[in-house]
Amino acid sequence: MDTRSLLENHESGYSLAQAFYTDEEVFEMDIKHIWRKYWLFAGVAADIPKPGDYFTYKVHPDSIIILRDDNHGIVAHYNTCRHRGSLICTKESGSAPKLMCPYHQWVYNKDGSLFKARHMPEDFDKSTFGLHPVHIRTVEGLIFISLAESPPDFDQVVREFGPYLRPYKLQKAKVAAKKRYVLKTNWKLITENFRECYHCGAAHPEYCKAVIGANLKESADVYQQEKQIEWSAKGLETKGIEFKDNSFHFAVRYPLRDQVESYSLDGKPVSLPMGDHQDYDAGVLGLVCYPNFWIDAVSDYVWTMRITPLSASSCTVDLSWLVDENAVEGHDYDLDRLTEFWKVTGEQDWELCENNFSGIQSSHYQPGPYAPSELDVVKFVDWYINRLKEGVGLPVTDIA
Ligand code: FES
Ligand code: FE
Repeated sequence: MDTRSLLENHESGYSLAQAFYTDEEVFEMDIKHIWRKYWLFAGVAADIPKPGDYFTYKVHPDSIIILRDDNHGIVAHYNTCRHRGSLICTKESGSAPKLMCPYHQWVYNKDGSLFKARHMPEDFDKSTFGLHPVHIRTVEGLIFISLAESPPDFDQVVREFGPYLRPYKLQKAKVAAKKRYVLKTNWKLITENFRECYHCGAAHPEYCKAVIGANLKESADVYQQEKQIEWSAKGLETKGIEFKDNSFHFAVRYPLRDQVESYSLDGKPVSLPMGDHQDYDAGVLGLVCYPNFWIDAVSDYVWTMRITPLSASSCTVDLSWLVDENAVEGHDYDLDRLTEFWKVTGEQDWELCENNFSGIQSSHYQPGPYAPSELDVVKFVDWYINRLKEGVGLPVTDIA
């Protein structure tokens, strides 16, 4: 496969050539130049509240242990034993005072240092066999890791996401529900789908009922400006973060329809106002950080989405729903009502993305033109192409 000419021949404004979606060699390039280079959303701090609580995250070909240390910080290590390489944590989540490899029982401290290696020679130097560390940053209770040796700057993301996220008090939030989907599609098609609403009118009646402008038949601009003045007066961040080529994150706050108070099928709240919110009028906060992080937050819950590629033709999507720390199931929220909006909307999208992938495998697929309302998809695709070009030493091109 001549990947250089594939990259050079990409025409901005058109969908990608088939190989970008289906070829395993391109998939390995995606892993190398994007997934092992940028910052990845791993999960939420609220999932590991106590020292020793951990979860693992598999990003091809690695497994990463993310755990709460004794100082209530969060650290991350490669999940490969320094003896003969076994996985140390074999479960997706758990809690342990120390990490013990199941093979020959080497024991590691939470900070990754080797605590004990039984029956090793007297002169064995434990200090040189700690677990390999992984770069980690948290933003208001959201955990990001980078598998790069020298990750790109993340301070800007922390600085810019902070004011948006603070009112939700995510560090203490309650993880009310989680759901995983394993999808037969390329990871980029999920991203493309979530960067446009050209499909929303036909595909998402529930979503369009909640969000003004989603069907592209009406403009939300004037209403949005009015609401932004109200939100600013209440101290909510509204300014919006715009995509730049050397950046990889966005933020936007947009209004729900008048009388719609939450992302729910009936438009009514589904839980207590979250954190500092006093009412159900914070609109929707949307945050994105490429390649794998999305949240949509309404006044009473935060919905997170983590995309993880498995191969060119498959990926997982992990969803979680966070509510206020004091919300009690059965009293303040009902799990079905909390999750049904994104279950319905998400599953509509997964079907579209799997259909998209199936069709792209056709002998007669060829890249097609994006519509004006798909400008953010064009920007994503151009960002993607530029990251691969950078990776193979080709000059990058200006983006839309
Ligand atoms: Fe971990 Fe042997 S591989 S103790
Ligand atoms: Fe959609």
